[in-house]
Amino acid sequence: MSLAQRRILLGVSGGIAAYKSCELVRRLRDLDAEVRVVMTEGATHFVSPTTFQALSGQAVRVSLWDAQAEAAMGHIELARWAERILVAPASADLLARLAHGMADDLLTTLCLASAAPLYLAPAMNQQMWAHPAVQANIATLRQHGAQLLGPAVGDQACGDVGSGRMLEPHELRDALVASFGDRSLAGLKVLVSAGPTYEDIDPVRFIGNRSSGRMGFAVAEAAAQAGAEVTLVAGPVSLATPAGVAQRVDVRSAAQMHAAVLAAAQADIYIGAAAVGDYRPLEVSAQKLKKHDGGELTLRLGENPDILASLSAQTAHPFLVGFAAETHDVASYAQGKLRHKGLDMIAANQVGGGLGFEAADNALTLYWADGAVELPRTSKAELARRLIAHVAERYRATRG
Ligand code: C5P
Repeated sequence: MSLAQRRILLGVSGGIAAYKSCELVRRLRDLDAEVRVVMTEGATHFVSPTTFQALSGQAVRVSLWDAQAEAAMGHIELARWAERILVAPASADLLARLAHGMADDLLTTLCLASAAPLYLAPAMNQQMWAHPAVQANIATLRQHGAQLLGPAVGDQACGDVGSGRMLEPHELRDALVASFGDRSLAGLKVLVSAGPTYEDIDPVRFIGNRSSGRMGFAVAEAAAQAGAEVTLVAGPVSLATPAGVAQRVDVRSAAQMHAAVLAAAQADIYIGAAAVGDYRPLEVSAQKLKKHDGGELTLRLGENPDILASLSAQTAHPFLVGFAAETHDVASYAQGKLRHKGLDMIAANQVGGGLGFEAADNALTLYWADGAVELPRTSKAELARRLIAHVAERYRATRG
């Protein structure tokens, strides 16, 4: 990983998590990034500008009205200098001001005046984070193109437990690294399956599941961004083909998905993000089944082939990544699937509690034979980029 010659503007607003941003500057400097820190007035009550100056090796700016600093590098030059702006911590007040396009201090002015992608790492008490006013500001900021990093769920400085913890410095660093479009899959073929499968009962009914396909589509997009030649096998979803995806094959049933994946299996990596139906009706009625008064309907179901397991049974097969959506005992089920399906990696997530199938956000834990990493709650796009970074690393470690 490197951020050599990358120019990162770190905005620090007033919150106790500002102490973690000192560590973040260190982590960014470890990767040779150029870091300039801009603090809000409130932030200086938590950490001294001198601390950030010593860590970044650059003068720290707070005020818009600093004649000396403006003479050295004016705020517009600073806005143009930045390739990425990361605000960490982003307080409720700062989010409100940004959402409304205010420019009442140096940091908000820079965010407005810069064309650089804006990353926000919120940190606040869980009650504040849950407030509808804060959530409305977040929705507005997302609409304006800002990328949210976190917050995570956990212990808070105020003693509460809940959502509102700032992501850890190394997680923010990884997000910035990924944002520069890692080309870690350049030259590799990646096959991704996504979405649900529909198993027909008759011409109007089917057995399906709640997968929206969004996670798999985000994974396909992130793999393409990382330089891979991507084939996407999609179950019935209403999603546009992501930018950069070379080929899309639309299927409906698990059997069709099985055939489409095997036909495209000359790939270096297969990521099975589809929620494949485990069973299908053994007889598909050619005509619509009629209702019989008081009667019961019995459907006989047969097991579908396991796509991942059929791939792993082949002697030369791609690096295999599975997904495990579970409602409980996530870790033990995921690790069990990793072993018995013969996978190289599995991405596990807890379904429910606002996460999983139909949600915009997700959180994953990745497991491989001798390791694991947690990817905390964030947008599916951001999560997909991080997943891809880990897949690339494991691929290189075991096959590269
Ligand atoms: O066993 P379970 O269905 O929970 O495993 C989920 C993982 O297995 C996903 O990666 C999914 O795409 C894959 N799978 C498969 N073929 C099936 C069922 C699941 O490849 N028939």
